[in-house]
Order: sequence, then C-alpha cells, then structure tokens
Amino acid sequence: MARLRLAVLASGRGSNLQALIDAIADGQLAAAIVGVFSDKPDAPALERARHAGLPARALRPRDFTTRLAYDRALFEQVDQAGADLIVCAGYMRLISQPQVQPRVGRMLNIHPSLLPAFKGLHTHQQALDAGVDVHGASVHFLAPELDGGPVISQARVPVVSGEDAATLGRRVLAREHPLLVQTLRLFAAARVALVDGVVHLDGHAVHAPLQLDRDDRFGPATWAG
Ligand code: GRF
Repeated sequence: MARLRLAVLASGRGSNLQALIDAIADGQLAAAIVGVFSDKPDAPALERARHAGLPARALRPRDFTTRLAYDRALFEQVDQAGADLIVCAGYMRLISQPQVQPRVGRMLNIHPSLLPAFKGLHTHQQALDAGVDVHGASVHFLAPELDGGPVISQARVPVVSGEDAATLGRRVLAREHPLLVQTLRLFAAARVALVDGVVHLDGHAVHAPLQLDRDDRFGPATWAG
C-alpha cells in the first residue's frame, strides 16, 4: 500500500514534527513527510526538517498584502508537495476560510486541551484557572472556526495540585507526541475518515473522541447510534 503523504505546518519548536520524523524512521508510522511549511523563517521546526533531509519552506506573512493572499500562496506550495493529509503541528496562524473549506477532512490540528474546553492560547493556564482535575490534548479535523472541527482523539493528563502552567504544559506535550503518532497511524491504515462532518473509524461513526491509554493505545471506541 502507498505510504501516507504528509505535509506539516509548524511555527515554532517542532517537537510534534520531530515525533513524526522519529516514528517514520523507526518504522512505527507508514508515512512520508513530503514538505514542512512555516510562517516563521527561523522556526526550529524548519531546522529539524532540514536535518532530517525533508523539504522545508517558510513564507513570511509580511511579504503579502493580505491574509488571503498569504494563505493562497502557502497552500499552492502545500498542494505542489502532493500531500494526502495536512497536519498543523504548532502552526500559530489562523488559516483563512477559503483555504480550509476545500480541504475539510484532509487537514488536522493538534491542540493542547481536551476540546471543546480551552480553545485558543494559554490553554494550560486556562485549565489551572478553571480548576479542572484532568487536562490533556486533542487531535481534530480542521474546520473554519478556531480550534473547532470534529475531535478524533485525545490524551488525558491528570492535573497535579500546586503545579504551574509550564510544568503542566510539559506533561501534556509528552502525551501529545504519542497521541499524534497513534492518530496518524489510523490514517495510514485508512481506518479513519470524516463523513458528513462526523468522524468515522473502520466505517462506523464514532460517538466520542478516541482516548489514548497509558500504553499509547486507543481504548475501545464508542460507536454512535
Ligand atoms: C503544541 O502544544 C501543540 O499542541 C500546539 O502548539 C504546540 C507546538 O509544539 N498547537 P511543538 O512546536 O510541536 O513543539
């Protein structure tokens, strides 16, 4: 079977990108990264990509007059790379509706909270301020609204009393990496798809996000209906 072709969008550190690079190199993920794209020319993510011998490109928003023009140029390049799936892994720019809409079902994002809780920025502080016992991360299909779109999978992280946002964030990040890899393994095996706005696994609508367990496996799915 042809390997899943991934494009990765990243603005910063790129630890999720690195997790994908490592999982592919280890034979854990039957995929190929066909391009890494960034809005920040000095993003460490681009360095990681180049180090792994992957095509890496930055387009600077300030070289474009509007968001629409920037996104059009960016996605022209993404399309040229010929990806099956576009993964936003720490891509910190809003993507305009005309670029999201035609790619719904082919674009994923990883977000550091248990969506729909704590959208936007500073999610770990938001979780601490809200006093929740359990926080975590989600992988979801991209929809035009910020951090919206059907959630595919989640990893839960218990909040330790007295910890600060940085510590909690590190513990969540450590679970993001297996969450992203295991979710992409489902795509590589053609097991997951978005059908009429609903996540399907093995051809069945999924009622609730898949939950990654401590052994980095997904627990039994809850089928809808
Ligand atoms: C992660 O926490 C991800 O969930 C969020 O941005 C961060 C990116 O981290 N969207 P990295 O660049 O992958 O290290």
